[in-house]
Amino acid sequence: MSILFSGSTKTFHLYNQEISYIMTVLPNGHMGQLYFGKKVHHREDYSYLYETVCRPMASCVFEGDRSFSLEHVKQEYGVYGTTDYRRPAIEILQPNGSRICDFKYQGYEIQKGKPALTGLPATYTENEDEAETLCITLADSLTGVVLELLYTVFAKGGILARSARISNKGEEELHLTTAMSLCLDLPDCDYEWLQFSGAWARERHLKVRKLEQGIQAVDSRRGNSSHEHNPFIVLKRPAANEFQGEAIGFSLIYSGNFLAQAEVDTHDTTRVLMGIHPMGFDWKLEKGESFQTPEAVMVFSEQGLNGMSQTFHRLYQKRLARGYWRDKARPILNNNWEATYFDFTEDRLVEIAGKAKECGVELFVLDDGWFGQRNNDHAGLGDWVANPKRLSRGITGLAERIEGLGMKFGLWFEPEMVNKDSDLYRAHPDWILSTPGRSVSHGRNQYVLDFSRKEVVDCIYGMMAKILGEAKVSYVKWDMNRSITECYSKALLPERQGEVFHRYILGVYELYDRLNRNFPHVLFESCASGGGRFDPGILYYAPQGWASDDSDAVERLKIQYGTSFCYPISSIGSHVSVAPNHQVFRSTPLHTRANVAYFGTFGYELDLNKLTEEEQEAVKGQIAFMKEYRELLQFGRFYRLVSPFEGNITCWMVVNDEQTEAIVGWYRTLSHVNMPYTRVRLHGLNPDFCYVEQGSERVYYGDELMNIGLITSDGMSGQVEELTGEYGDFDSRLYILRAVQEKQIADK
Ligand code: GLA
Repeated sequence: MSILFSGSTKTFHLYNQEISYIMTVLPNGHMGQLYFGKKVHHREDYSYLYETVCRPMASCVFEGDRSFSLEHVKQEYGVYGTTDYRRPAIEILQPNGSRICDFKYQGYEIQKGKPALTGLPATYTENEDEAETLCITLADSLTGVVLELLYTVFAKGGILARSARISNKGEEELHLTTAMSLCLDLPDCDYEWLQFSGAWARERHLKVRKLEQGIQAVDSRRGNSSHEHNPFIVLKRPAANEFQGEAIGFSLIYSGNFLAQAEVDTHDTTRVLMGIHPMGFDWKLEKGESFQTPEAVMVFSEQGLNGMSQTFHRLYQKRLARGYWRDKARPILNNNWEATYFDFTEDRLVEIAGKAKECGVELFVLDDGWFGQRNNDHAGLGDWVANPKRLSRGITGLAERIEGLGMKFGLWFEPEMVNKDSDLYRAHPDWILSTPGRSVSHGRNQYVLDFSRKEVVDCIYGMMAKILGEAKVSYVKWDMNRSITECYSKALLPERQGEVFHRYILGVYELYDRLNRNFPHVLFESCASGGGRFDPGILYYAPQGWASDDSDAVERLKIQYGTSFCYPISSIGSHVSVAPNHQVFRSTPLHTRANVAYFGTFGYELDLNKLTEEEQEAVKGQIAFMKEYRELLQFGRFYRLVSPFEGNITCWMVVNDEQTEAIVGWYRTLSHVNMPYTRVRLHGLNPDFCYVEQGSERVYYGDELMNIGLITSDGMSGQVEELTGEYGDFDSRLYILRAVQEKQIADK
């Protein structure tokens, strides 16, 4: 990897084995974008890539020159209002009412490794050789604003991380009203746009459409990254698929309001913008102050969507997630929420945990309802002290009993929220976000604490740290069950109200960070009514997240498949729950529920006492299986093979780095009579290795499995598997493949 600067042409070339990113200083001193894609040879001069044409009706920058218009030049950080009419990367409201800026190139610095972004989650390096970072400095002479554009190229993978820092080095106070993390102008629009959208209990469904002239965007204005959209989009060439062709993924490491958009202009160039949502954003920059944007990560792949996803998985697993749990197989847990909801006693919890222990579960998690007057969702949030009526010896006593069973203990919190019926609210009614003179909306009877205020974060930290310090708590589920409304902080002046959404999320990060630092062995799992804040920002603090409140195995196929486009399997919280399922009332076989949940963190969301003995035996087998294979399942190379968004069959697989072990998950939603023959072509195996399929003991070469395919047709009848006693609808299978010595193939 390297970052090269050609002084004669003022051109930067950032590259590694896979990508080149080339930009140059434009005639007006702004930064221009020349190329992002597969690695090309280095040369001093790429000026042929800088194309200008005299276009009728163009507004032009220089008197007497009818060719230089910013509207028609690809840029690094576009500004609106001086010949470029596209949406801008930056906008600054100045004392005279103008929003125009003119950022001219000043110089650059290259450093090894990657600097941290103060107060913000970001990718990192563990040693300096893993990446190089370029900082380009530009300045607007009239306002004195200095703009630093940061680019990190990693040694491995088609990854480029970007962010911007804006500093007011002038004399007057300014308002930053747009500050995107990334602006990328691409030379054409021959792309399909992929987004991951949905709703509560239907998160991250894949939606695809062709880019067209105009703006296509996804965003959140809810204060959390949201169930509705994820801060992740992909542009892929129409011919690209899961396995080949060009795709660029854009991911924002941020958990608050965001915008991700592609604008195709009249000449079919595409501008991608990603960053904090400009709507309502207004950050006052006093003299001497700076603003750092969140980081955005771009991944270029010419190995299709799987290639792109695998690069994101490695990066986010190893260089975004942090801490003690980063590289560790995750404990198999039993959460009591769907088992009891609010209706539990200490003995009842211990009874559930006891059976879980007997089946092999390692961690028992007590969900909502253990604190304050929390007997239902009308009261108690904010009072993070155990309810003595339910837990006579508090969390300490319960944790001791669970540990006494030989299990770890985990606990649910919803730190950002408060019920009006709580001691916290009664003591500090002004601590909630609410707009003066307006009624304040609730969500699930709760209100949002003003996490932009340090004293609020300190108070919540104090209550949480007391419990984590006193009791043996090994795991925390951090929930967030409503979006923000009437966003207004009583601690900030009127002209700073446009900062509240961002300050709020900085407060969330601050609390997470303090807890991470002071309780480094605690495993954090994020949650926001399921997957309402499943984003890379949170992944920096919590290496796993509850992917959705919909725990039905069939629904989960789409949710987990969609989630896997950006996020590693080790981050996807997935559990077996009861049948009929509590969200969709569907009954799926126990083996299918487990076969889906294995491709995630794995656990149970039910009372195992209520299963039949036969089912309990099956659960013991599932847990033993997961313990044997979880490193492979959670940290192996994951391939999507057949999409649930396209038909009745879903298939995916994981392979270890040595290509000696693989597990294929195959799922059929509905059963049909007299079904066709089916094969699935596998990926990522070594073509020359021989693999034995566990169970059937059949042996195949890797190239057979990848080119001919694994036969997944049903055995004897070609119909519903009634002859084998297996299920019809919602059936699934795992195929476990292990490399063996070649001579064994002859023996079979
Ligand atoms: C949210 C979570 C659930 C559960 C409940 C408790 O909905 O997503 O898993 O923790 O809150 O109230």
